[in-house]
Amino acid sequence: MSTTTLNLPKLYAEAQDFMPLNGTDYLELYVGNSKQAAHFYKSAFGFQSYAYAGLETGQRDRESYVVIQDKIKLVLTSPLKSGTEIGKHIDKHGDGVKVIALWVDDATVAYNNAMERGAKSFMEPRIEEDADGKVVRSGIYTYGETVHVFVERKDYNGLFLPGYKAWATPAYNPKPVGLKYVDHMVGNVELGKMNYWVEFYEKVMGFVNILSFDDNDISTEYTALMSKVMSNGNGRIKFPINEPAEGKKKSQIDEYLDFYEDAGVQHIAVATDDIIGTVRELQSRGIEFLRVPTTYYDVLLDRVGPIDEDLEPLKALGILVDRDDEGYLLQIFTKPVEPRPTMFFEIIQRKGAQSFGKGNFKALFEAIEREQELRGTL
Ligand code: FE2
Repeated sequence: MSTTTLNLPKLYAEAQDFMPLNGTDYLELYVGNSKQAAHFYKSAFGFQSYAYAGLETGQRDRESYVVIQDKIKLVLTSPLKSGTEIGKHIDKHGDGVKVIALWVDDATVAYNNAMERGAKSFMEPRIEEDADGKVVRSGIYTYGETVHVFVERKDYNGLFLPGYKAWATPAYNPKPVGLKYVDHMVGNVELGKMNYWVEFYEKVMGFVNILSFDDNDISTEYTALMSKVMSNGNGRIKFPINEPAEGKKKSQIDEYLDFYEDAGVQHIAVATDDIIGTVRELQSRGIEFLRVPTTYYDVLLDRVGPIDEDLEPLKALGILVDRDDEGYLLQIFTKPVEPRPTMFFEIIQRKGAQSFGKGNFKALFEAIEREQELRGTL
């Protein structure tokens, strides 16, 4: 089934909102070197130093740096010794997203609701306290080794979480690049498992399937994939789920699964109000983006109609445009941000459109195939 029109109010009403989610709280990445990763996210992506936990705060087995940009908080965690769960995670998957933390009013209720509906426990509700109050956190597994942690912080006035201290680097805080919040996060799952995880989000989390793409929507001459977009009841949390589809050659999803050695987070889409300014800044700081052939721009305005932006800077920067019934969107994708061809970022600016850029899929996946060709993984 392929859907092109979105009736979001109706779809959201169908979501069984037994688990109200206020938004994304933080994303925790397990990485080989948290200190250097923090420096990368600051210098290249415009995040600011925010919080720290490690030896100086009494942590003996791990070190975490928290960086922030508007509503986005990234926690970058590395082990301090061998043989830890974090170390094993990094050994198997490389750097990647471990925790998608969701902000809730009651982390115990969220956990109990999820467990009653069949979730696998990651962390029973636990109270963490310091002089600034208390936070309750609990957690469940989703695809692969990825987890959702529910964060209840209504009785907390501290900076981030108990156990963290402020991390300030007054001598070095590169300017933010205009990233505002997490728009959506995409999971890649194994062949034949997409509907399993769609049902998981429906049953366990009360989400609703708002869009579906089959291999007719997302295929090139060589490769294909299928995708379903899951959303919670207020639309603040959107999780597209991808699975590979049969093609003549190995798809980008197969490549991801081979190198991550599991299902996992494929990309983090972050919103900006000024994609031209944001992408210009990111490119000047060395972030590499996928590029489509310049012929894409020859027919762009015929395809999407009038847009506010000039075509030239979009073409120069490689920004893509798509339109749906409600408006249009601008988007661009980075190359993977770690050695393995796994996780990457999307920068997105929405001007009415609530969809995901279906009109760009073909050009985009052909661009990815050119990268796969270079890597010898197509
Ligand atoms: Fe996306």
